[in-house]
Amino acid sequence: IRRSVIRGCGAYLPERVLTNEELASRLDTSDEWIVSRTGIRQRYIAAEGELTSDLATRAAEEALAASGIAVDDIDLIILATATPDETFPATATTVQRNLGLRRGAAFDIQAVCSGFIFALATADNFIRAGQAERALVIGAETFSRILDWEDRSTCVLFGDGAGAVVVEAADGNGGSDDRGVLATCLHTDGVHHDYLYVDGGPSSTQKVGHLRMAGREVFRHAVVNLAEVVNEVLEATNLTADAIDWLVPHQANKRIIDSTARKLGLAPEKVVLTVDRHGNTSAASVPLALAEAAADGRIQEGQLVLMEAMGGGFAWGGALVRW
Ligand code: ACO
Repeated sequence: IRRSVIRGCGAYLPERVLTNEELASRLDTSDEWIVSRTGIRQRYIAAEGELTSDLATRAAEEALAASGIAVDDIDLIILATATPDETFPATATTVQRNLGLRRGAAFDIQAVCSGFIFALATADNFIRAGQAERALVIGAETFSRILDWEDRSTCVLFGDGAGAVVVEAADGNGGSDDRGVLATCLHTDGVHHDYLYVDGGPSSTQKVGHLRMAGREVFRHAVVNLAEVVNEVLEATNLTADAIDWLVPHQANKRIIDSTARKLGLAPEKVVLTVDRHGNTSAASVPLALAEAAADGRIQEGQLVLMEAMGGGFAWGGALVRW
C-alpha cells in the first residue's frame, strides 16, 4: 500500500524574543504566574510587515533542503493557519509563489491549534489516493496579530513561528513496521465555539478581531479529548503506548502535556517540549517541535512518533508516524 514518508523538516522563528519579564513590566502578571501555570518562559514575535507567508516560506525552504527533494518535484502544498496573510487568496499560494513553484495545488487548512494534524492527515490521504507524490505540509502563525495585548489571561500564552515537513509517497506492506504515516484521527465539536474563538472576521464584523478564551474550560476538555484521541490512533494501528519512542504534542501548556504523557505511562525524556521557549504557536507548534527533535538527532529513522493537538472549534486530532 502507499504510505506518506516524512523526508525532511524545517522551522522558522522570528528574531524578536518577548520574555515573561518584559510582559510583566507592562501588564499585571509575573514570570512566576506564567511559568507555574503554563511552563512558558518566552515567545517569538514577528517583525512589523513579516507575514505568516514569510515565516511559512522560510520553514518550507529548510524542510526542502533537509529532504533533498527539489521544489519542482512538489505537487501539493497544504498550509495550516488561523492567521492567513489575507482573507483570500490562500496563504499557501503565496508560499507557492515565494518558492517559485508553478505546478500542483496549494491551499490552506483552518483547524486552529490542530491545523498541522489536519493538514498532515489531508496530505496523507491525497498521497494514499494517488493524487499527489510529494507534499509540503506547513503550520505557520502570527498569533501576535490577533491577541488582545491588554488581556493578561490570553496574551501571555501565544507566540509566532512556522514549521514544515516534506512527505513523499513510498510503498509499504501495510503493517505497523512501515515507514510513514500509520494512522491519523480527526475530530471537531462545534458546540464549544464560545470557549475559544476570535471575535471578528469577514462575514461577522469585517474586523480582524481578537482571540477570546475561557482557559479553564479549554483545559478541562483538552485533557479528556487528547487522552481519547491518543488511544484511538494507537488502536487503529494495533500498537500500545510502550511502542512510542517520542510524543510530539501541541505546545499549549506544560500541564496538559504532562497529563497526556502520564496517562500513556511515557517517561518525560520521551516528550519533545518547546513550549518553554516558543509559547503556543498554534498550528506551528507540532512541526516546530518535530523539526527541533529531528535536527538534534533525537528522532531517528524507524522510530515511532505520536503527535496530538487540540484547539479552537473545538478541533482535535492525533497522528502516529514511523519516522
Ligand atoms: N498573570 C497573572 N494572573 C493571571 C493571568 C496572568 N497572565 N491570567 C489570568 N490571571 C488570573 C485570573 O484573573 C484569575 O484571577 P482570579 O482568580 O482573581 O479571577 C487567576 O489568575 C486564575 O485564572 P484561571 O484562568 O483560573 O487560571 P488557570 O490555572 O486555569 O490557568 C490558563 C489559565 C493557563 C489559561 C489555563 O487555563 C490553560 O492553559 N488553559 C488551556 C489553554 C489551552 O490549552 N489552549 C489551547 C488551545 S489554544 C487554540 O486553539 C488557539
